[in-house]
Amino acid sequence: MSSVVVITGSAGLIGSEAVRHFAALGMDVVGVDNDMRGYFFGADGSTQWNLQRLVKEVGDRYTHHSVDIRDRDGLDKLFAGLGSNVGLVIHAAAQPSHDWAAREPFTDFDVNAVGTINMLEATRRHAIDAPFIFTSTNKVYGDTPNSLPLVELETRYELPEDHRWYGGIDETMTIDNSMHSVFGASKVAADIMVQEYGRYFDMPTAVFRGGTLTGPGHSAAELHGFLAYVMRCVMEQRTYKIFGYKGKMVRDAIHSHDLITAFEAFHKAPRVAEIYNMGGGRFSNCSHIEAFKIASEITGLEARTEYVDQARQGDHQWWISGTGRFEEHYPDWKLTYDVPAILREIYEANNEVWKS
Ligand SMILES: NC(=O)c1ccc[n+]([C@@H]2O[C@H](COP(=O)([O-])OP(=O)(O)OC[C@H]3O[C@@H](n4cnc5c(N)ncnc54)[C@H](O)[C@@H]3O)[C@@H](O)[C@H]2O)c1
Repeated sequence: MSSVVVITGSAGLIGSEAVRHFAALGMDVVGVDNDMRGYFFGADGSTQWNLQRLVKEVGDRYTHHSVDIRDRDGLDKLFAGLGSNVGLVIHAAAQPSHDWAAREPFTDFDVNAVGTINMLEATRRHAIDAPFIFTSTNKVYGDTPNSLPLVELETRYELPEDHRWYGGIDETMTIDNSMHSVFGASKVAADIMVQEYGRYFDMPTAVFRGGTLTGPGHSAAELHGFLAYVMRCVMEQRTYKIFGYKGKMVRDAIHSHDLITAFEAFHKAPRVAEIYNMGGGRFSNCSHIEAFKIASEITGLEARTEYVDQARQGDHQWWISGTGRFEEHYPDWKLTYDVPAILREIYEANNEVWKS
């Protein structure tokens, strides 16, 4: 039985949740993370604290490699050493911010697109049967969601209830003819390549196109980590800049735990070249205004916000993921956290760390 799971981005939000989860299921976890988030977002973004916590908690089941996913030979050596013991690959290392990507397009593309083909090729050479899970993004649809016929309500934008995507946008939305941002484009390249390794080489690959992924493991920074950064700002009484759309833009939020149980379901019954929109859906979503209201209620503190009347380029005005395709393939999977539960847990987990 192949009992090793390779997880890239293992000190990040999704990677660290995956490490804990699969180690608890009895798998040996090989983590790859070079703390590049610290380079992207500065001290707030460094995932070193999370790595230290992980090593302490998971113990011998976890082995860390500070390999850069751009280092093709380094990855190949790592996989060659593990060989057919690899029973699962979760590729969650990335440059995750669309604002940051425009600062260094080469770095963004090298990490997101080239890093992904490096991982795919190492897997194909050394562990071709291992399910390969890739964390893509809803930004592959570019700004097409902004052409939906949204109506403005008091605290949010919303789709009319009789719209076919009221329950969430599904995978039939086109990825063409839209503004993706540099980040969205590098993720599209990776997303298509993961599908292609599935179709062309018959590998069990899956692309999970996330909405807002969140949880207490996020190293919350201004440029990335929506709900965790909302909570951090309220707790530390920092001013949060809201960019455009009157703060009524809607995001669906999925807790990292709920995403990892979806990965587990795929691992148990893998398919080839799948794509899934994945998020909190109708069960777990909020606008910025609503998120601040909930965070204030939880903390008893006032939210300090500054409104900038300019939306981020390519930013979504409304996104709720349609998870029907995944639920049809994996009917036992269920979401367990909604936005208030997520914010409360982020608050409790960081109560000692984030103080005003
Ligand atoms: N968080 C979200 O809201 C969200 C939404 C949609 C998609 N995603 C995707 O999910 C994935 C995981 O996101 P996350 O929120 O856990 O991000 P994260 O930044 O918390 O974790 C990513 C980890 O990868 C590491 N890393 C970055 N570049 C690396 C490199 N070159 N080599 C080795 N390690 C490297 C970072 O140090 C970090 O620890 C990413 O692919 C991201 O694009 C995230």
